[in-house]
Amino acid sequence: MRLLNKLSFSEKLLHTGFIFLVCIGLLAAEAYLYVTHTGLDGKSGVTLKDVQLSYYGDRSSSKLQTVLPAMFTNAGVPKAQWPQLTQTIDHWVAGGQTKAEYETQIKPLIAQHCLMCHSVAMSQQLHNPPLVTYEDVKNVAKVNTGMSYSSMFMGGMVHLTMLGVIFWIAGWLFLQTRVNDQIKAISVLTPFLAMLLDYSGWFLTKQNPNFAWMVLIGGALSCPIAMLEMGVSLLDMWIGLPGFLQQRLISEVPSTTKSTQQPLPT
Ligand code: HEC
Repeated sequence: MRLLNKLSFSEKLLHTGFIFLVCIGLLAAEAYLYVTHTGLDGKSGVTLKDVQLSYYGDRSSSKLQTVLPAMFTNAGVPKAQWPQLTQTIDHWVAGGQTKAEYETQIKPLIAQHCLMCHSVAMSQQLHNPPLVTYEDVKNVAKVNTGMSYSSMFMGGMVHLTMLGVIFWIAGWLFLQTRVNDQIKAISVLTPFLAMLLDYSGWFLTKQNPNFAWMVLIGGALSCPIAMLEMGVSLLDMWIGLPGFLQQRLISEVPSTTKSTQQPLPT
């Protein structure tokens, strides 16, 4: 294997094309992650809370509860009655949405304030969910439990296979640079470990929001390190390396003479 700076012009072009395209792709992936995760918690930037909301969800509130104020307004319910009605619904959702409580507490409330727009006929006109049966109401009272397992497996299929290949190629190119061996060893391993941390973090965070840090740290160390590897490869290929990254000559000379003198062990 030849060092990157010793490659022919067309070989360098091949690697450069790959690096540019893939780095743009990875930046797009980071941007996608940013726009889909930022602000879920109302703050800008991807925070721990955003990760928790994505994978664990928000189990304190259902769609039904979130839209209640707007729906009370729709229904013309006087403001003075809002707290009591809200409490009735909160109690039912938190208590596991039992059929018995539905019959005595929820059904009359909905019949009085909501059915005028949420009957089967009206819901077809207004494009809103019907709230006629117990199942209908239960359906909108589900709490958000975050990303579904099928999306997580799908995400794993795409992320782990695609990034695995990219990380391998980025690492292989990086190994052909004149960078110091220790930096090489750490750099080529980190994206793989970080990706594992990230992906296992998805499942653990779904169980318990306290694991969200794994997703954040894993995400911060996987693609960015691979991009750094590719950036340094590019630099070494076309221009040269800054001193602190380079393999020191003293350690290089004996190891190369040794390897040319000794026969390979069989
Ligand atoms: C004046 C008509 C009207 C009344 C009364 C009304 N709604 Fe709605 N509701 C709508 C419309 C229209 C939509 C769909 C558009 C929207 O989300 O605003 C909707 C949507 C919803 C949704 C689905 C929201 C979503 O994001 O999918 C829920 C849940 C809901 N209403 C619950 C209720 C409850 C509970 C009541 C009674 C307290 C109620 N609505 C009273 C018109 C009404």
